[in-house]
Amino acid sequence: MDDVLKEFAGFGEFLDGIGSLHQMAVDKVHASLVHSTILASKPERVLELGIGSGLLSFSILHALKYNQRGHLVSVDNWRDFEGGGYPWVESSSTDRGEPAHISGLRKFGAERLDVMVADEREFVEKCQPHSFDIIVVDGNHKEGHLWAEKVLEICRPEGIVFSHDVLEYRNLIVYRDLAVGRGFGFRIFSKSSLPGERCERGLMVIFESSRSVECDEST
Ligand SMILES: C[S@@+](CC[C@H](N)C(=O)[O-])C[C@H]1O[C@@H](n2cnc3c(N)ncnc32)[C@H](O)[C@@H]1O
Repeated sequence: MDDVLKEFAGFGEFLDGIGSLHQMAVDKVHASLVHSTILASKPERVLELGIGSGLLSFSILHALKYNQRGHLVSVDNWRDFEGGGYPWVESSSTDRGEPAHISGLRKFGAERLDVMVADEREFVEKCQPHSFDIIVVDGNHKEGHLWAEKVLEICRPEGIVFSHDVLEYRNLIVYRDLAVGRGFGFRIFSKSSLPGERCERGLMVIFESSRSVECDEST
């Protein structure tokens, strides 16, 4: 088996090891799509809005480690961990209000990860345009539509934006309208083929390009 195939085999095991936290997480199929996109596109700067279980953060970091390049900035204000928002999540908070599992994430990410404890909107609004190669949005679903335009702006031209749960939180469909308005290619993946896959929540992928790009060399 060559190295890339070994990485894929290891990734399945790695996802299974995350345990009960997976119930608040992005589904494994869509995590795999983000993982593979990072393996293939070799980003330098990745932004994640909403850490939650850390499954997606782990997936992104796993791919960056494979690439041996790239950095992840993950933003969360731990809002969903206050007051038992997810009662099944066995994750006691530390003194800083940070869920206990985040220390494992920090260790795994090491120098490739910055965890920013911040409100997502405030963070995004302070970023310079074109700051990130890939952005993964899975944070404040109820209000996320209000700063969706800014999220697209801080992604570089030819970059990729993923937005999770766009079919569950219909306000987030604003991403589709923005993509159409800008002439960006996009796709919403929402099919499950196995029981319990939970892909129906919808992962939207937006390609920030108004022209076709034939290969990496042209960027
Ligand atoms: C659905 S969970 C993320 C799931 C994650 N992708 C995973 O794989 O487990 C949403 C996360 O966004 C965070 N969040 C919610 N509102 C936020 C806000 N306004 N600013 C920053 N983080 C926020 C929550 O604390 C929670 O950890």
